[in-house]
Amino acid sequence: MASSWAASDRLGVLRRYRDYLPITEATPLVCMGEGETPLVRSQRLEARLGCGPLYFKLESCNPTGSFKDRGMVVAVAKAIEEGQKAVLCASTGNTSAAAAAYAAHCDLRAHVLVPKGNIAQGKLAQAVAHGAQVIAVDGNFDQALSLARAITDKHPIALVNSLNPYRLEGQKTAAFEIIDHLGDTPNYLFIPVGNAGNITAYWRGFVEYQQRGKATKRPRMMGFQAEGAAPIVLGRPVEKPVTVATAIRIGNPASWKGAEAARDASGGVIEAVSDEEILTAYRLLAQEEGIFGEPASAASLAGLFKMSRQGLDFGNSTIVCIITGSGLKDPETAMAIPTEVREVPVELTAVEKAIGVA
Ligand code: F0G
Repeated sequence: MASSWAASDRLGVLRRYRDYLPITEATPLVCMGEGETPLVRSQRLEARLGCGPLYFKLESCNPTGSFKDRGMVVAVAKAIEEGQKAVLCASTGNTSAAAAAYAAHCDLRAHVLVPKGNIAQGKLAQAVAHGAQVIAVDGNFDQALSLARAITDKHPIALVNSLNPYRLEGQKTAAFEIIDHLGDTPNYLFIPVGNAGNITAYWRGFVEYQQRGKATKRPRMMGFQAEGAAPIVLGRPVEKPVTVATAIRIGNPASWKGAEAARDASGGVIEAVSDEEILTAYRLLAQEEGIFGEPASAASLAGLFKMSRQGLDFGNSTIVCIITGSGLKDPETAMAIPTEVREVPVELTAVEKAIGVA
């Protein structure tokens, strides 16, 4: 029964972590090669920060370029199992890209609600390319999510936002992979926070793996919101969230309580980083590590720099920063980095001169 879904040479999240997921005999083992993402050791920033081993988990290497694929594969498989024919989500872009791709792969219809004018071009391109119906809501993500809930409460369409419990089940597998790679839990996990599902899912994964005897300890969860969209830090919803990191431009996170529980149970923090700090980290990541994450992803590294500046000693600590999505999704932000593109005629000497070897 599962054979038609098992064409990939990679196991994917459903088969690799089958024993940890709500899978039944009737669940199709959908796989587009999600998961098994690289854990890359820092080459330069670790020394600059004076911290213990620093790793970047490249969730940007998932099939649609973000961590969303881990949860989407579970949500879509369960929707098929339940006989659904269509999926719907509200999204700042990555969830909609994943929903559109997995729906296309599984011959489901996808409807995606995105905040008008506030979604990175690459993400919109993905939804369009995969044939999803794109609906631009003249409001922000939080308003789009309210509409998504209302529609799916009323009509037989599967909601594939992280309110769908299968999403977080899939996303927790990233924590398993970190432990599988390192042999044990890191001391700190740095992660961007938007709708707060991912930090909730990671915490669940770390706790579960320890309970099953796969790890000896749990990490401190260090979550970072953008300063203009920091409801959990402020302790109240933000009506008009603003930040360059459009993925986390969220004022009333659905998993608010889960994020607070992860923070409190782990002895961690949820703090804010400014757009300037995010963009500095974004460039450092790209230019000193060779890792092109999208701006929201850089909030994790910006948070590490901030905590380090505030005097937290990471000297002997193993740290993992989650790079949640690919920089390719947001070319506008990359192209805003000041740079000079030299134009030359088709002449050897002109190129030599431009390079400085004339
Ligand atoms: N990083 C990226 C690249 C994201 O796309 C998101 C969320 C987050 C971090 C934050 O994760 O919401 O679980 O706290 N993107 C959602 C979306 C909201 O619609 O694609 P979170």
